Amino acid sequence: MPTPVILDCDPGIDDCVALMLALASGGELTVEAICTVAGNVEVDICTRNALGLLALTGHTNVPVYSGCARPMQVEPVFANHIHGESGLGSVSLPEKRPAARAEPAVEFLVKRLSDVSQPPVTLVITGPSTNLATALRKVPDITAGIDRIVLMGGARREGGNITPSAEFNIYADPHAAQAVLQCGRPVTMIGLDTTLQFRCTPGRMQALRAIGNPASHAAAEMIDHVNAIYGEIYGTAGAALHDPCTVAWLLAPALFSARPARIEVETRSQLTRGHTAVDLRPGVDNPANAVWVDGLDADGVFRLLLERMARL
Ligand code: RIB
Ligand code: CA
Repeated sequence: MPTPVILDCDPGIDDCVALMLALASGGELTVEAICTVAGNVEVDICTRNALGLLALTGHTNVPVYSGCARPMQVEPVFANHIHGESGLGSVSLPEKRPAARAEPAVEFLVKRLSDVSQPPVTLVITGPSTNLATALRKVPDITAGIDRIVLMGGARREGGNITPSAEFNIYADPHAAQAVLQCGRPVTMIGLDTTLQFRCTPGRMQALRAIGNPASHAAAEMIDHVNAIYGEIYGTAGAALHDPCTVAWLLAPALFSARPARIEVETRSQLTRGHTAVDLRPGVDNPANAVWVDGLDADGVFRLLLERMARL
């Protein structure tokens, strides 16, 4: 029986690749819905991009719900310096695309997670956690409708990417991330310690292009944009592909290494806002509230990605 998932994202280039991986894995995952949230770019652009991606991949049956336009408390930050003003680099997706549902994402989440007639759902969050945290604040007992949460965010060994001590998704809405970590449902957090090991090297880009379908071509064009931006920093190692690691973990957890951890988010300090304190110390009275993923078999995950992209 395929696992029901809701993808909550800020597409965004790597979010698009994560969406493609999930949509191409119909035998194992059922993408029930996509929720968008302000993050890489403004939420309306994220929503437009999610709809365009469904048109490109032929999955226009999947409903898209537009979500929160700003974080719960802090001022919004965006990452268009990485993803471009459109959120997709220079790629254009099909103009003919479905419309988003009228219901806001938070209302959809409250309704879906409160519906006891439906099975609990897996939430895959690859942007700021604002939508789910806002839904939890409205109706705390919707947790019964959550099977588990897989979240791209945070950093331990790697420090940060948006500041020296914080990863973007957590920095963008630290209060939301803390609320999700405290919600009592199983949380798997895949941070920079893992995703920075998953690079778009020239060999991998060549293999992606060789698939030759519209989805892999669009993905390669989008990734070329971030590879160009990160060129000076990473050279031929290529840019990291963060968000697909969440879906890949769902599909093939054996390709990752993970440990229980106590994870807390800095929500007060301006200097270290969004820092994830990942406590892996043995023998301390600090009960784990999450699973911290700290490594992956990058070749194995890329092989999985290629195999699924070829299905689109
Ligand atoms: O730090 C990486 C994360 O921030 C990814 O989800 C990327 O899409 C951006 O949202
Ligand atoms: Ca993202």
